[in-house]
Amino acid sequence: SSLAELGDLRGRRVLVRSDLNVPLDGDRITDDGRIRASLPTISALSAAGARVVVMAHLGRPSGAPDAAYSLAPVAARLGELLGSAVAFASDTVGPSAQSVVAGLADGQVALLENVRFNAGETSKDDAVRGAFADELAALGDAFVSDGFGVVHRKQASVYDIATRLPSAMGGLVAAELSVLRRLTEEPERPYVVVLGGSKVSDKLGVIDNLLGKADKLLIGGGMLFTFLKAQGHEIGTSLLEEDQIPVCLDYLARAKEAGVELLLPVDVVVADAFGDEASAQVVAADAIPAGKVGLDIGPESSRLFAAALADARTVFWNGPMGVFEQAAFAEGTRAVAAALTTVPGLSVVGGGDSAAAVRQLGFADDQFGHISTGGGASLEYLEGKALPGIDVLS
Ligand code: 3PG
Repeated sequence: SSLAELGDLRGRRVLVRSDLNVPLDGDRITDDGRIRASLPTISALSAAGARVVVMAHLGRPSGAPDAAYSLAPVAARLGELLGSAVAFASDTVGPSAQSVVAGLADGQVALLENVRFNAGETSKDDAVRGAFADELAALGDAFVSDGFGVVHRKQASVYDIATRLPSAMGGLVAAELSVLRRLTEEPERPYVVVLGGSKVSDKLGVIDNLLGKADKLLIGGGMLFTFLKAQGHEIGTSLLEEDQIPVCLDYLARAKEAGVELLLPVDVVVADAFGDEASAQVVAADAIPAGKVGLDIGPESSRLFAAALADARTVFWNGPMGVFEQAAFAEGTRAVAAALTTVPGLSVVGGGDSAAAVRQLGFADDQFGHISTGGGASLEYLEGKALPGIDVLS
């Protein structure tokens, strides 16, 4: 289902679901990668003469309007990047949305306010979601699904809307899928997966699935401490998911059985308290002093991970190695990013956080094979789960 299947779009109102969920500091956008990634589809529709109505979410508001989650700053940035003003509707389906859409000329672009200001967007009740999707559908004549980062969500503007309008897959979703396919369909070997981020529980499905597929699994980030604890080590006040200890033990055993090299850090950077850079110090991973909190992988581990990545032909990385926002705890993430830029094969950086991390650390997008706009979505794809926003299109 490509855009061409929608036929002549001149003068037609085309609703596009994009993922414009960008990190904000107040109303300043700190990483506009997702907006940039959404431009080609929006521009193509505009160039085809469509009246383009972009739908998107920001954060996780509670289903009611909340100024802290307004898309207004995103509309401004989108307009700058497009080189022409974007009409912003201060509600999603109400009078403002209706009048903004009615006022669009051929080729013009509008952005509706955060779809999650409406409880119907994320409702688990099909009828409630459907009623909201009906209101959205009334604003358009066709639908283009281009928000790769949300295709794993069965939500009104992602899923239900596609059952109500002639629908097509946007170029971003198509491009993301074609790269991710190379990670699951006969990946070139060695295939190395690097996982970080704070929670083991977010990564269970993907570890489970990759234990039979990847050659090496490198683990850093907050989740590494639950693994260290499972191995019987002292972890001080580091992040711990007590209930995941048995799961970690099971993964360690299964990795051994499957011949998958599961690499854990041999040293870590600890501090007296979360964020306390002045007290940062490197200690052995099996000798974390009581009372200290682990906030990054250590230099020896960085070398170990870089060596494990050196001959990789396929790499998938999701989740920072440490609290990369602070210089004292950013070196592990920087080392992994640097190693990825030199791998001889395909390197994929997955996820909003990891993408923001590499950009914040000064790397350029084109140093990597692919930076995915999807965090949860790319993980669920690798887990082999069905993606409702994709399946509904076929
Ligand atoms: C993301 O940030 O991964 C996507 O925008 C999806 O957001 P969500 O996890 O709040 O659904």
